[in-house]
Amino acid sequence: MHKGCTIWFTGMSGAGKSTISLLLEQHLRKLGAKVEVLDGDVVRTHLSKGLGFSKEDRDENIRRIGFVCELLSRNGVIAIVAAISPYRAVREEVRRRIPNFVEVYVHCPVEVLAGRDVKGLYKKALAGEIEQFTGVSDPYEPPLDPEVQIDSSTETPGDSLERIWAALENLGLISYDRSALAHK
Ligand code: ADX
Repeated sequence: MHKGCTIWFTGMSGAGKSTISLLLEQHLRKLGAKVEVLDGDVVRTHLSKGLGFSKEDRDENIRRIGFVCELLSRNGVIAIVAAISPYRAVREEVRRRIPNFVEVYVHCPVEVLAGRDVKGLYKKALAGEIEQFTGVSDPYEPPLDPEVQIDSSTETPGDSLERIWAALENLGLISYDRSALAHK
């Protein structure tokens, strides 16, 4: 029904990576898939505790997450990552190590993100109260050729889920009859 793989959501804070990844996780779980989510906010409370937001620390965070994904993917699990992962080179590095790596770029214009500002971080970053904040005072390098690109300012999480699902089917990574889920 599914292969081991890693579905890696990259994008700026508040773009919707966690929301869409949780939706995907729930859907896959209901169908009986083996799935684990590694969310940047959670990972940073244990696996990457103590790391900050310098380029070196962010790259280290991504390498650690990538290492876990490599183990999970090669053992038949679907690993889902939601991390800003702003640097292209380290994303490419983990892609090379992980079997069946699927990059999902969650784009959203920074004006929209600053308007939403769910965590209140953009306001602080724009006021200069948070240093090295991605998209404000620190770089974000968008993927050049992601398997899926989402614009969360124009599509709903449900729309995004459908497109990711279709991509996973086309890549031969999942094959499920979802009709039974419609009534759940
Ligand atoms: S990453 O760059 O190393 O991939 P990660 O996804 O783990 O980042 O963590 C991002 C989360 O940390 C954000 O959603 C936000 O809540 C918080 N955060 C705190 N400081 C920063 C910062 N300077 N830049 C971006 N996010 C930050």
